[in-house]
Amino acid sequence: MLTLRKIAPDNFEECISLTVSEQQKAYIASNAYSLSEAYALTEHPLYVPMPYAIYHEETMIGFAFLIYQPIDENDPDDDESVYYLARMMIDKRYQGRGYGKAALAKIIEAVKRFPHGEANAIVLSCSPKNEPAYSLYKSFGFVEMGIEDEDGDSLLRLEI
Ligand SMILES: CC(C)(COP(=O)(O)OP(=O)(O)OC[C@H]1O[C@@H](n2cnc3c(N)ncnc32)[C@H](O)[C@@H]1OP(=O)(O)O)[C@@H](O)C(=O)NCCC(=O)NCCS
Repeated sequence: MLTLRKIAPDNFEECISLTVSEQQKAYIASNAYSLSEAYALTEHPLYVPMPYAIYHEETMIGFAFLIYQPIDENDPDDDESVYYLARMMIDKRYQGRGYGKAALAKIIEAVKRFPHGEANAIVLSCSPKNEPAYSLYKSFGFVEMGIEDEDGDSLLRLEI
């Protein structure tokens, strides 16, 4: 049974210690970087950072970082609120056991409760070269938006 838990004083160091394989490091920032980013975003006027540790029973096995991005009324090009899945990782020791799939199901379930406000979609960016992650997202119904981000990764979205 997987659960998503908030990052707190008693688990942030363990979260930082989680890591992916050397080859996968090209596709995801370290958890230390992501937690720093989450902290900085607490000062953003609109965005809400949502970093979570992923547990299997009482063992921390991964990390997910969402950012709630409500419509910016001052930006005429911004016409919808979304939850942006900025990071998702399963520690290298625990990969290939179905935890990534179960974690993504939990993340989608949690977002559908609209914890910080309503939204139309979950959006993320992923390199098509990152085959396991890309196929995982596609298997959950994420579709290509036909847009690339500044790193050349494809933007994918799931209507919710
Ligand atoms: C992507 C990631 C989260 C998957 O976690 P995982 O626990 O290993 O995945 P699972 O065991 O649940 O497998 C889920 C699906 O991933 C895909 N998958 C997993 N390993 C794969 C591999 N080696 N090759 C191809 N597809 C693979 C499959 O579609 C699989 O579904 P299936 O079992 O029905 O075939 C994990 O590989 C990871 O942390 N990668 C590094 C971080 C990263 O790249 N995150 C995404 C950034 S966009």
